[in-house]
Amino acid sequence: MDKHRIRFLPLDITYLAQDGENLLDFAMDVGVHINASCGGNGTCKRCKVRLVEGRVDFCQDQALSVSGHGEDIVLACQTRIKGDAVFEIPLESQIDRSALKSRKSPNILSAPDSLASLGGISPDPVAYKINITLEPPGIDNNMADSERLIRVLKNSHNMGDVKINLNILKRLPSLLRNSGWDVTLTIAETDMGLEITDVQVGNTPKKQYALAIDIGTTTVCGQIIDLWDCSKTGSRVIGESADYNAQISYGDDVITRIMHTRKKGGLKRLQEAVVKTINLIIDELTDKAGIERSFISHMVCAGNTTMTHLLLGVEPRYIMISPYTPAFVFPPVIKGGDIGIKGLDNTPLYLFPCVSSYVGGDIVAGVISSGMAKEGDISLFIDIGTNGEIVLGNKDWLMCASCSAGPAFEGGGISHGMRAAKGAIEQVRINKKTYEPMILTIGHSKPLGICGSGLIDSIAEMLSAGIITENGRFNRELPTDRVREGKDGYEYVLCYGKETQTGRDICLTEIDIDNIMRAKAAMFAGCKVLLDSAGLYFNELKRVIIAGGFGHFLDPSKAQIIGLLPELPLERFVFIGNSSLMGASLFALSREYASEAERVARMMTNIELTNNNRFMEEFMAAMFLPHTDLRLFSKTLGVR
Ligand code: FES
Repeated sequence: MDKHRIRFLPLDITYLAQDGENLLDFAMDVGVHINASCGGNGTCKRCKVRLVEGRVDFCQDQALSVSGHGEDIVLACQTRIKGDAVFEIPLESQIDRSALKSRKSPNILSAPDSLASLGGISPDPVAYKINITLEPPGIDNNMADSERLIRVLKNSHNMGDVKINLNILKRLPSLLRNSGWDVTLTIAETDMGLEITDVQVGNTPKKQYALAIDIGTTTVCGQIIDLWDCSKTGSRVIGESADYNAQISYGDDVITRIMHTRKKGGLKRLQEAVVKTINLIIDELTDKAGIERSFISHMVCAGNTTMTHLLLGVEPRYIMISPYTPAFVFPPVIKGGDIGIKGLDNTPLYLFPCVSSYVGGDIVAGVISSGMAKEGDISLFIDIGTNGEIVLGNKDWLMCASCSAGPAFEGGGISHGMRAAKGAIEQVRINKKTYEPMILTIGHSKPLGICGSGLIDSIAEMLSAGIITENGRFNRELPTDRVREGKDGYEYVLCYGKETQTGRDICLTEIDIDNIMRAKAAMFAGCKVLLDSAGLYFNELKRVIIAGGFGHFLDPSKAQIIGLLPELPLERFVFIGNSSLMGASLFALSREYASEAERVARMMTNIELTNNNRFMEEFMAAMFLPHTDLRLFSKTLGVR
């Protein structure tokens, strides 16, 4: 793709931009400050820059953007780069060179492409299809249908003991005769051993698909995988879909859901709600891909321990009561019909094993997809969500913990917090001289609230600009109207009401900052306790793998400034997105990963942090920006 030279004045710095790149996004990426307070929506008109020379395209009617002063003034957020160009940033967006030092490293990795497409892995699933032709019975050979079938499997396919369940037996006589004794069997490894889970008329082994589903507390995501052919698309994943978990109506977090199961019919309601969501996702996946459900040979689900209990309709109550004992960690293999999955009554459904009440199958799936349990080098896996889960180790040993970080990184408990959705402020830069913000929202929509990455950016930027102090309190003497006393105490105004969707100012208060500090302190303290238990220092980590929804927008350099992530070179941070879904897909694709799931779950030693004195000490030490032990962040403090 064409690259263009973009020069910014008066900084007089030049960067290479992709053809068609949005100018405001580009400026944000390279660390050039342009005031922007509507998130790139085109309404605040604060992102004006002068086009000195060069070629650009406009996203909207530039009559709106051009100031009418006879100059080539454009709105950066409404401008696409189409050639080499020179832009002058007006005085009100003054030089902020310091931002350059802390801009994102281009070396930050995403999940490897081969894993993303799953194209590099040869399918060897736990359920497979075999076409067989049987000799029709005669008067001198009237062996029972099921025995006839098993004998062929034994003699021609070298299979030992294969079970046939009642559902199949009921359909078997007519299927065999209607097919002219030419059928395709689906044979799956289940708790019964090898089991025939489907019999289809004719030769259908080339039509085999699997479903991988990540059951999150908030969202459920699914993928449909073609197990036979990836030649057309280059990817085995032929469809993806996601929806909010319908359980959300019964509470945002796992504790509220568990509380709901104590009400009459509560457990059944929650089970039906998540199954309803899964059914909708399967409908969408199969409809879009034009696939009949009967060709789905198996399903794999990964979820946290509570979600796994609720899916199976198993009492989760003791997960939240000391000593925090789940009913099981190794779930049985069930059939779709056991829980109400439509049209897949006899299709096996595999669930990822869990480790403890608060380290579930989603984390085991994440560890598998990250590859850390196959390497000699030591990695730290972090899933930042309502419950921050962390795993430390390598191919020989793994330790894990869950630190109740609270919902702050998902916007919970923050006055204008929201999940990472359209209109959420996800990136923030603050000019250190004028204290004016530059913000970007998801979808360039008018700001609606702030999501996790926006919160981390905001606090790091406020700290770097001296708007807040190391203990999270506002500097009340600054010459800016953006720091003011609101109804909840002092606050910083990120967007004024005329720029937002709600018409209300979007602010960050000291209470919000305190909530984020608690969340980051819990995460960091959890990591520190695990490393101390293993006798390791942070600089001995080869990789820090960050999983979860907001990983892609999280700027690790900002997360280091507030003390959420350890001080390590940026190239050691790897973002792998929804690693739970990726792990489920790997399990669905290959029995090697299916057995790896069990090996990893058995190998993970859970360190309980609740009522752990060491954790409390580390938590208190981390309740500072970035930390009370400044030696842990000496380089970060130098850059800031
Ligand atoms: Fe461009 Fe608001 S008009 S950021």
